[in-house]
Amino acid sequence: METISLDYNFMLAEAIGEDHGLKESDIDSVRKKATKFIKEISKQRKAGELDYLKLPYDRQTQEKILNVAEDIRRNYRNVVVLGIGGSALGASALFQALKPWVYNVYPLKSYPRLFVLDNIDPKYIADVAEILDPRETILCVVSKSGSTTETVAQYIFFKKWVMDICGSDYKRHFIFITDPEKGPLREIAERDGIISFPVPPKVGGRYSVLSSVGLFPTACVGVDIYAVCEGAAHMDDICRTDVIDENPALMYAALNFLMYSKKKKDISVIFSYSNKLYGLADWYRQLLAESLGKKYDEDGKEVVVGITPVKALGVTDQHSQVQLYVEGPNDKTFTFLKVEDYDVTLYIPKDVEDHKDLKFLENHTFSEIIEAERVGTEYALKKAQRPSCTISFPKITPYTVGQFFLLMELSVNLMGKFFKVNPFDQPGVEEGKQAAFALLGRPGYEKKREEIVGDIEKDLSFRI
Ligand code: PA5
Repeated sequence: METISLDYNFMLAEAIGEDHGLKESDIDSVRKKATKFIKEISKQRKAGELDYLKLPYDRQTQEKILNVAEDIRRNYRNVVVLGIGGSALGASALFQALKPWVYNVYPLKSYPRLFVLDNIDPKYIADVAEILDPRETILCVVSKSGSTTETVAQYIFFKKWVMDICGSDYKRHFIFITDPEKGPLREIAERDGIISFPVPPKVGGRYSVLSSVGLFPTACVGVDIYAVCEGAAHMDDICRTDVIDENPALMYAALNFLMYSKKKKDISVIFSYSNKLYGLADWYRQLLAESLGKKYDEDGKEVVVGITPVKALGVTDQHSQVQLYVEGPNDKTFTFLKVEDYDVTLYIPKDVEDHKDLKFLENHTFSEIIEAERVGTEYALKKAQRPSCTISFPKITPYTVGQFFLLMELSVNLMGKFFKVNPFDQPGVEEGKQAAFALLGRPGYEKKREEIVGDIEKDLSFRI
């Protein structure tokens, strides 16, 4: 079966020079640490920790997901996910990677359409409410806490939308994915008998794509979730070795850490040369940002670290970003997502246009053109001493996409160890969530409201 691979030659001094490239001795300097980290991960697994690594093996949950999804596929024409952040990005990434990009406008065949509503822009919500028919729609409300303002606001809005048409039958139009025991959504699910799936309590949103959070909505549109999980398990297997040169998750983590600490590269551009993989770049953007962007290290010492992730789409962004990437500040690393086989052979037809300046394109395939452009960009970056590496997908399949999720999750977990920060919390996000509750008048947040209003109302004419 196909396996994705990491090529990091253009991160090395031999290729891009010693000012910006890593020497063998730099990699040697983290070998001992790297081995220790893998041993720690293995110990944590044995102690039953790191629940995100258990997800690919949870066949029982995957079977349940498929059973319910089968029912949805038979009975509904639309699945609408209400969720945000880690509760939406995984499903979007899987959908974008594994279904045709025009999927939702295909004449309806056997599967429902999928809409992931991951924002509360009122127009965005109103458009969906206007176009879809509640009788044909199931709303999948995804929130681990069960209380995220954006998601519960959407839930209440759509509950009325369904009730207005379906009356007391509205419950049949909801599925909740939330904490197994606590939170408002869990309580409502129990109270109203709404079908629900649990989010494993120790798996944070950005590590939850291989749980029901990412798998259920996409199973509803026919994504082969077993293959996704088998791919993840395959990558998990590859990444158990403590030999850094044989472990892509460990090597990618070490490269990112060394580039940040030794070469001052604090921006990481994920450059996807595939529209289908662009959602993976979006998903990874959250994973990296929330996991590493921290004020304090694990001992409570102030460190203020983080790599700023940037997503780019090849070749589109060659005409938007590459000028900056090649000639602007040399403060970035680049990770190309390359596709070896796009699963279609699309020729530039012969004898259609014989202008002498255009003739050279004849008989080339679009796959050749996009790869030539990727290599061209890689070369321009190398020449300008900009470090890059490439993750190659032999093909975009559920199996290889599953590998990517696990590779990056584990790698970011390991980066947390290199940077000595907790990659599983997000105190900065929590602060903003609490502040929004207070500003919107949630009971119990009166003191917080006073604090915020006192702080900013006068200065910024902040009105709620
Ligand atoms: O990764 C995270 O933890 C966050 O992005 C959450 O997923 C996001 O804030 C939504 O939270 P919840 O699932 O509780 O609604």
